[in-house]
Amino acid sequence: MMPLMLMAGMGCGSDTSTTTPATVTLTTPTTPVVPAVSAPALVSTNDVIAASVGTPVRYDASKGGIAFTDPAARGLTYAIAFSPTNNGLTAVGCDLAGTPASPGVTIATITATDALGRTATDRFAVVAFAPGLLSPTLPAALFAYSDVSAPLPAQFSSQGPGGTVLATDNTPATNRITDAGATLGRVLFHDPRLSANDKLACSSCHIQAFGFGDTAKLSRGVNGGLTARHTSGIANARFYARGRFFWDERATTLEDQVLQPIQNPVEMGMTLDTLMRKLAATTYYRPLFQAAFGTADLTSDRVSKALAQYVRSIVSTGSKFDRAFTGNGPANFAGTFTAQEQQGESVFRSAGCARCHATNAQVSDDVHNTGLDATITDVGAGNGRFKAPSLRNVALRGTFMHDGRFISLAQVVEFYDTGVQANPGLDNRLRGNGGTPLRLNLSANDKAALVAFLNTLTDVPLTTAAKYSNPFR
Ligand code: HEC
Ligand code: HEC
Repeated sequence: MMPLMLMAGMGCGSDTSTTTPATVTLTTPTTPVVPAVSAPALVSTNDVIAASVGTPVRYDASKGGIAFTDPAARGLTYAIAFSPTNNGLTAVGCDLAGTPASPGVTIATITATDALGRTATDRFAVVAFAPGLLSPTLPAALFAYSDVSAPLPAQFSSQGPGGTVLATDNTPATNRITDAGATLGRVLFHDPRLSANDKLACSSCHIQAFGFGDTAKLSRGVNGGLTARHTSGIANARFYARGRFFWDERATTLEDQVLQPIQNPVEMGMTLDTLMRKLAATTYYRPLFQAAFGTADLTSDRVSKALAQYVRSIVSTGSKFDRAFTGNGPANFAGTFTAQEQQGESVFRSAGCARCHATNAQVSDDVHNTGLDATITDVGAGNGRFKAPSLRNVALRGTFMHDGRFISLAQVVEFYDTGVQANPGLDNRLRGNGGTPLRLNLSANDKAALVAFLNTLTDVPLTTAAKYSNPFR
């Protein structure tokens, strides 16, 4: 970021005109003589200007270096144009001044014109941030996120229902988690600057305390509009074997997914171009990109990689369910769970829940039509099929399913027991004899036990871990 320069009535371009003093041609006659007709030319661009809504800004935009090399014809005139709006800024010659009215990026185009009407131009951004934004506070030593510094636990390599957790890892070889990459991702994830009005971060909807989901049925986006679906819990996103994201799998990779909320007009309401200009106007992103990727270049590809690394690092390993495992051996539920929780764990398998909510990370194996409705109103991934996020921390999410229709786990269990609706796309696993919707005939006892089991998947260490917490405070 370029520090703001407060000019005290300095004439436009008074410094750039000294770059080719007339004496050069006089004392060194061998130097090629600058042609008398040389036009204005841009020698270096203006850097992005950081400003704040409500705080006056003043800047001499000829400083970027629109040079004029013909000493005889000095006296460039400057004009600045703003787009899409001036947002409270005005320009007199090369002097830009004013008080930004609202958060956003204004593109300023400065044009220098010489006596012959020839021009040179430069475009630069004035980024007006909302007032009072904080900078992140990060630990001196990086938190552990990578598989080397935070190894996955033994129960992820042991057989659970449907196989091992490790076999479902969707991490691409081109974007392995590193401690510095996920640290950058953490900052991005919690930074309200990723939204058009600087008010909404990813973490405003994916709330750590709620298992990185939202208890609201639908979440509020940047302009107060509601999201089209319920916010997914994103812990264990790394272990959806199909590697596709959103309830309807419309993002083919996590790297693709993470840039979409930023550009979604309801959610964060930005363009990637605006995003990159805003990141460039802060002081803290360049060092974080440097640490994560080896150079300080800010690119949206790197934003995507870092956010995906951070999301994949959010792995639930600290629930009561996990504590039933010691080392590589099978689970010792008897030694860890209450009698009711043990009963629930057994019903979870016998009722077929674990066939879809598979492995020791309870992640869905595929998209399924679960018969929520007889008539499909949201086709999801086609035929009313949806993926389910990992059931880790599901109890903290408060509302359930892609539309947030259920408000308790007891309601969810009741639905699977008696409420599955016939529809042409209904999954075979939820059909009974003759293809009719399955009725589980669970006792009240079984249903309460199932809810108790779902509660053992709550991972308080994860929902309170400093390494996933908001660094902007
Ligand atoms: C305004 C609320 C909101 C914000 C802000 C938001 N999300 Fe989401 N997120 C949602 C909703 C709603 C869904 C489900 C949408 C759907 O599937 O159609 C979702 C889905 C996801 C998923 C898919 C999970 C899965 O298992 O398929 C990921 C990953 C995710 N968001 C990450 C992010 C990241 C990263 C950011 C910030 C760049 C972010 N979200 C910002 C509401 C939000
Ligand atoms: C055929 C596969 C399948 C079976 C069997 C199944 N589920 Fe699901 N489950 C899903 C899918 C898919 C979703 C997401 C559905 C949606 O939102 O439209 C889901 C959603 C859920 C949710 C809500 C998750 C959230 O984040 O909102 C819970 C809780 C749940 N299931 C528990 C169970 C239990 C308990 C059983 C056994 C009684 C069970 N499931 C059986 C596939 C299945």
